[in-house]
Amino acid sequence: MRSPLSNPFQPGSDIVPDVWAGRSEQMSDWREVLRPRRRAGLYETGRTILGEPGTGKSSLVRRIAREAAEAGDWVTPQLRIPSGADPLKLVASAVLLLADRAGLRASGQQRVLALLARVEQIAVSGFSLTLRGSDGAEGPEPFTALFDLLVELGQAAIAQDVVVVIHVDEVQNITDDAALSQLLIALGDALSHEVDVELPGGGTVPRYLPIAVYLTGLPDFEDMAGARKGATFARRFRTVTLTALEEGDLLAALQPFAIQGWETADGHGGLDAVRMTPEAARAIVALCCGEPFLFQLVGQRAWNAGTAPVITEEEVLAGWRVAEREASAHVERILGRLPSREHDVLAAMAALPSADRQLTRIAQEMGMTATQLGPSSQRLDTVRGIISRGRPYTFRNRAVEAYLTTDWPRVD
Ligand SMILES: Nc1ncnc2c1ncn2[C@@H]1O[C@H](COP(=O)(O)OP(=O)(O)OP(=O)(O)O)[C@@H](O)[C@H]1O
Ligand SMILES: [Mg+2]
Repeated sequence: MRSPLSNPFQPGSDIVPDVWAGRSEQMSDWREVLRPRRRAGLYETGRTILGEPGTGKSSLVRRIAREAAEAGDWVTPQLRIPSGADPLKLVASAVLLLADRAGLRASGQQRVLALLARVEQIAVSGFSLTLRGSDGAEGPEPFTALFDLLVELGQAAIAQDVVVVIHVDEVQNITDDAALSQLLIALGDALSHEVDVELPGGGTVPRYLPIAVYLTGLPDFEDMAGARKGATFARRFRTVTLTALEEGDLLAALQPFAIQGWETADGHGGLDAVRMTPEAARAIVALCCGEPFLFQLVGQRAWNAGTAPVITEEEVLAGWRVAEREASAHVERILGRLPSREHDVLAAMAALPSADRQLTRIAQEMGMTATQLGPSSQRLDTVRGIISRGRPYTFRNRAVEAYLTTDWPRVD
């Protein structure tokens, strides 16, 4: 039955949506590289997944985490860092829960219990805590206790042949230098720590721990000075910038609606199928400009625009008209966060005919030199993924382009 209750589109944040599109590269990186390699004891860096608001960073890693949990892995929840909060507290609490699950406390070993007690202190007091030994002398810094517990957890994971997955979200909110560097050192050291495992026929071999780390957040994280993240950060984490979804991937995601229909409960214990005309599917893909959030928004509104078992193009357009304000707000959220220089580059670029969008012309429009604009245009490309600095420059974020160059999101 087609009703708001059975609507599979979910334009909220932090959700793994039922209508999933693309991101196959990142999913296979997890399935075919990161998980199998760390599980086999081979080295693999952590992953930092950055992108503008609503590009689907949290959803992607939540999906990976869900898959991992289904495979029996030990997975933290999505650890969202509130602005200015102490990340070590959150991570320490989550790792303690995993340690319980791994049975570390139940082992009753004095050394492990003492370690758990130290990390419990961190979960309460955070990174600025000074750990003291029983003799009252100043102990090691908090991150070493977290690191030690991660090693212990990793050893237990080896014994049970599972992978530990840690997901820290909104990493751009870690504003304290010391907190950030302690967190990254604890996680990075755990990733590059080797332990000896015994071979069946005697002797030992070194291996890395089966631990995978995902950091997600806004591209601003990339801007945080290298010193804050520690010199080894770049070696221990690999950054991927998420950008718009491909049209082909979006159409493929809507394919179930075209062929057998999207299954829903019919309200009498049976199943119904909701279909979509090919025109409706194409309209959804065109309107959302590749933005995951807008894809969910327009899909949701189209579904709710009628009750018949087939979603039509007219319903897509009618639904979009209701959602126009929200669609604008989404793009304004991206534009509003930009430093004014970067914003001006986009505006100047949009004002030029597409063939004329070269750096020198854009600079001319702004009354500046190409050299002055270099850093801003570079960041719009490599850090944010909003433009591509080819010859000429083009927009990679098609929603930003449509917003600045046409009267989108209005449709007539
Ligand atoms: N691969 C995908 N296919 C379809 N929809 C997606 C996909 N990824 C994310 N979405 C949808 O996009 C919206 C935004 O996703 P999400 O909250 O993960 O973005 P984000 O990048 O974490 O945003 P923010 O920076 O605001 O935290 C959600 O409604 C989600 O359902
Ligand atoms: Mg998010």
